[in-house]
Amino acid sequence: MDSIVFGPDLALGIPVMDQSHRIIFDLLQSIDALPRPAFEEACHQLAEEFAQDLAEENHLMEAIGYPLAATHRAAHDSLLASLDQACCLLAAGDESSARRMVRALPDWVEAHINTMDLALAIAASNLK
Ligand SMILES: [Fe+2]
Ligand SMILES: [Fe+2]
Repeated sequence: MDSIVFGPDLALGIPVMDQSHRIIFDLLQSIDALPRPAFEEACHQLAEEFAQDLAEENHLMEAIGYPLAATHRAAHDSLLASLDQACCLLAAGDESSARRMVRALPDWVEAHINTMDLALAIAASNLK
């Protein structure tokens, strides 16, 4: 990913998803430059924001009876596990491993939005 910016190319047209994704990108944009105590706080904030975004999407999938929900939900669970692991590494003093995991997030999120979230947004829009 060239830059960590939530541009129009990533907007899906579902306000609840776009709003959460924008907040996540804003956090990802600044997190790596933060020194240790602020970095740790930002990791927890990021984990909370992701948990909220993913729960909203899980709820949307349930509400529309989305046929690909199990696969999409599994991807969310895997991301939350990675974030949890990054927070645990930080707590254990392994800052460089935690930072390496956080640096991988923008590419993961961009790929997720352009594939699974896009498919969900299309399915949700078709029901309107
Ligand atoms: Fe998402
Ligand atoms: Fe998603």
